[in-house]
Amino acid sequence: MAEVKEESKFYPPKEFVEQAYVDSREQYESMWKQSVEDPETFWGDIASELFWHKKWLKVNREDFSKGEIEWFIGGKTNISYNCLEAQIKKGKGDKVAILFQGEPEDDVVKLTYKEMLTLVSKFANVLKKKGVRKGDRIAIYLPMIWQLPVAMLACARIGAIHTIVFGGFSAEALRDRILDAGAKILITANGYWRSGKNVSSKANADTACDLCAAQGHTVDKVIVVKRLENFDVPMKAGRDTWFEEELAASDISDVCPAEWMDAEDPLFILYTSGSTGKPKGVLHTTGGYMTYVYATFKYIFDYKDKDVFFCTADIGWVTGHSYIVYGPMCNGATSIVFESVPTYPNPDRFWQIVEKFKVNSFYTAPTAIRALMKEGEKWPQGRDLSSLRVLGSVGEPINPEAWLWYHKYIGGEKCPITDTWWQTETGGILICALPGAWPTIPGYATLPFFGVDARALEPRSSGDQPAKDVPVNEQGELCIARSWPGMMRGVFGEPERFFNTYFVQQPGFYFSGDGAIRNEDGYFRLMGRIDDVVNVSGHRMGTAEVEAALNSYTTAVAESAVVGFPHDVKGEDLYAYVILKSGVEGSDALKKELVAHVRKEIGPIASPGKIQFVSGLPKTRSGKIMRRILRKVAAGAIDELGDTTTLADPSVVDEIVKGRQ
Ligand code: WTA
Repeated sequence: MAEVKEESKFYPPKEFVEQAYVDSREQYESMWKQSVEDPETFWGDIASELFWHKKWLKVNREDFSKGEIEWFIGGKTNISYNCLEAQIKKGKGDKVAILFQGEPEDDVVKLTYKEMLTLVSKFANVLKKKGVRKGDRIAIYLPMIWQLPVAMLACARIGAIHTIVFGGFSAEALRDRILDAGAKILITANGYWRSGKNVSSKANADTACDLCAAQGHTVDKVIVVKRLENFDVPMKAGRDTWFEEELAASDISDVCPAEWMDAEDPLFILYTSGSTGKPKGVLHTTGGYMTYVYATFKYIFDYKDKDVFFCTADIGWVTGHSYIVYGPMCNGATSIVFESVPTYPNPDRFWQIVEKFKVNSFYTAPTAIRALMKEGEKWPQGRDLSSLRVLGSVGEPINPEAWLWYHKYIGGEKCPITDTWWQTETGGILICALPGAWPTIPGYATLPFFGVDARALEPRSSGDQPAKDVPVNEQGELCIARSWPGMMRGVFGEPERFFNTYFVQQPGFYFSGDGAIRNEDGYFRLMGRIDDVVNVSGHRMGTAEVEAALNSYTTAVAESAVVGFPHDVKGEDLYAYVILKSGVEGSDALKKELVAHVRKEIGPIASPGKIQFVSGLPKTRSGKIMRRILRKVAAGAIDELGDTTTLADPSVVDEIVKGRQ
């Protein structure tokens, strides 16, 4: 990343500052101070802007030495009610809540808050008819269509826990998530549009159900959205039904009172990658998550009533959960759900949507910006982007080149950019710019949101050592010193894993797994993961998961090691070192087979960009793979391999360097 100097500070325009909720660093500092010193008042006030059936008794309680966190203790509410009835009561019934833009240009569906309430209530009644009860898990494997928010809000309405599986995951990955969550109902679609083609979702859903059955788990009901006309899929009698027919059934009422949930009742599970081969079921609960996404959406995008919000993430990831559905709808906003890709039919699809719907806030990932930057500025220049007020970035560090292009060609040099750092685990944004409050520096996420006590700490070998902040401008481990309302509450089905993953490395803190530096202004700059997680096109992928997939190709693979390496569009890509079984010849054809196998086991997002066949891996004498060396070779930093004399067999390094792909 290019070094950015003091003079590259970008100040928010005066007109923006004048209308911003938070208009100075001083105002932020005093609000932040209250948020951490007196969360009872700070978060109590914010939560009071939402609807509670029963008020909480105490705002929060936490014990990081046990990994226990509670917010709005004793309170009862429902997030679906807050996204629907509460908005209608505020007079927003006829306002568009979900604005769906399908891949075909004329395929637009605008659903008002009232219409959403009817659809959600009906679908909640469909789920009840199928026997769904509070606490049941429902798997959702849907593309980016308006029925996805309907399904989420219907689950939330009756206290069912949704677990959404990104449409790009394979049948095997879907199976793993259904099994882990113990879901008996699956909601999917016959298919969807992707770059002019019809892609099936149902085929993977069917395979996943068969694979579950092979492990003794039955998916009782599959509800299928007919997204595509004239796209036949097999429907299994007694199990599969059409979403549209279910909603239209004469016994389905359009009234379904929201179930009053305890603030700490689970809302959803979302699987994410970690350092082991098995994804973690990140569990979020009701009251704290709701309050946090409500507050972050409002302040970070400086949301005003008329704003049209466009977040380009997929709802299958946490960004879509929090900033396409729950955050915007708790604020009564209009939120765009876009089915397709940024480059089809032309690389100005995002800009065309901004122009068409006069989008005010636009939130995307650096990888998308870099990909569109390559296509040239003529694409945004051909569109009227003057409606934009705020731009956001998420998913990976944004490099200054991409930042400057975003600022100039998309923001017209007048829109503040908020670079938002957060994780599936954090529920909402933790470090970002409040767009009217302080200048930003490209590459810096800047300051922690209210209630977030973020620190860059020196590594600790044991909990007996006191925690120590790293000096200014030096890299440390990004940790958070106290809980915030949107924090995850557990790993579904694996209570010890929550504590062991997040509270052990830096006792007393939440350990994020990211590296960060802090400059003289207290601004945070994110430096990427410090664990074995790689960020490919803003998608988080555990290298151990990819290794497990490669190793399961048992006819050819003896062992593998996967690391990340820098990629100019994707941010990072995966580099796989593979040891073949004796007698198996390495070839390009075998590489293709391995890629196909990983795609089948996990999905296209996990396919390694490079594969190198090796006869050995650099291991210490105790058998631990020295990943540092593998990362350096993958990145082409051959002169920085460091000391290799402690390896069991230093000669493997020469071979690896010679065979570098
Ligand atoms: C990375 C996505 C730098 C980081 C919301 C984190 C970022 C992981 C940023 C979480 C950012 C996300 N700057 N890095 N603005 N945003 N990351 O769970 O490494 O899919 O730990 O959540 O993405 O990815 P996840």
